[in-house]
Amino acid sequence: RAIGPVVSIPNPLGETDRQAWMVTQMDEAMQVIKDHTRFTVDPSSIDGRNIRGNSVSNDDSSAPSTFFTGKSMLFVDEPDHRRLRKLVSKAFTPRYVESLRPRVQEIADELLDQVQEQGEMDIVKDYAYPLPINVISEMLGVPQSDRPQLQVWSGAIAEGLGWGRQEPDVAKHLRDFGEYTAKLVDDKRHNPADDLISQLIAVGEDEDQLTEEELISMITLLIFAGHETTSNLIGTGTFMLLDQPEHLKKLKADTSLVPSAVEELLRYNGPATSVGPRFATEDVELAGQQIKKGDMLLVLVKSANRDESKFAQAEELDITRKINRHLAFGQGLHMCLGAPLARMEGDIAFSTLLRRMPDLQLGIPRENVTWQFTLSTQGLDSLPVKF
Ligand code: HEM
Repeated sequence: RAIGPVVSIPNPLGETDRQAWMVTQMDEAMQVIKDHTRFTVDPSSIDGRNIRGNSVSNDDSSAPSTFFTGKSMLFVDEPDHRRLRKLVSKAFTPRYVESLRPRVQEIADELLDQVQEQGEMDIVKDYAYPLPINVISEMLGVPQSDRPQLQVWSGAIAEGLGWGRQEPDVAKHLRDFGEYTAKLVDDKRHNPADDLISQLIAVGEDEDQLTEEELISMITLLIFAGHETTSNLIGTGTFMLLDQPEHLKKLKADTSLVPSAVEELLRYNGPATSVGPRFATEDVELAGQQIKKGDMLLVLVKSANRDESKFAQAEELDITRKINRHLAFGQGLHMCLGAPLARMEGDIAFSTLLRRMPDLQLGIPRENVTWQFTLSTQGLDSLPVKF
């Protein structure tokens, strides 16, 4: 941010014919992610090149696609994006999500019941991970016994995902994840139930609105996006609150502050550090920089969310802050579909933890808590606590 709002950087993929830029401040970040005509999420629409790592679909054409290698809403423009998003948007409206609240509360309580007597737990393993994976799995109709495997795939994929050709082990995880999902869809075709996957299958068959590839890509996206980042919000959020106990004290005194605390934790240091890269569809001037058609722009969420011209004392956590707009869920057409669900899960996760374990404290020195950074997310591998 100190260098400027739009900063030229070496192309992270090593491509010599495409300049890359970092967008560090809020106004320019908004301009890029809300201008869907001049900036696309799909570079192949400009020059035919697929830079999302195509080793899964190209080397083995029989392998089912996934959200990353196939055609998921995250990486397509209009009109395909609108069509795909509309098919699932009803399941993520604030109103529908609110109807899930009692069940989410039950899941949170069940998880804490299991550790209550122990006096210690690993927040990540025992709470932050299982809560969102169980919620999204119940919505989709993923069997309980398969959920641990989904977490393994998602974690490995999040960690290893790269633009450009995938590392062989990530390609393998993507392929296994795609194959598993294709089999799950096949099972549900024969035994439909009252769940989102069965509904999507029916839409695909009845109205011909969804190809098989899009269906598998969609389900893998919902599983992956539906828990990885939310787990990180609960894990890192708990750490930040324990690390700055004055906030924890305020929250305990007034739990009606939890929703605003969730919003501030998202702004201050949320799980998404950048949105997916955007590509200029034409020559554009942005903050005095000449962006050429095809150039890549990395919009840094974490930096824009600390833009001093938008947030007073931007570098400080303030759980009572009135936030007008932040970038933690992105903005524009690709703004996070699951934001209402993530907010509700965050609300329940923190409120329940504070209510049931009011004397919660770190179980290891703060210096030993290690953050993991992936392509565009951040989280903790583990967070031992005592209570
Ligand atoms: C998109 C963050 C939870 C599903 C996004 C984007 C961000 C984001 C930044 C925009 C990416 C871009 O513009 O390139 C987060 C964070 C979460 C969270 C920080 C938790 C704290 C969820 C949940 C779901 C979900 C619970 C549930 C399924 C999606 C989907 C998209 C998306 C489907 C693609 C939307 C589109 O392209 O139209 N998310 N997300 N996310 N998120 Fe989330």
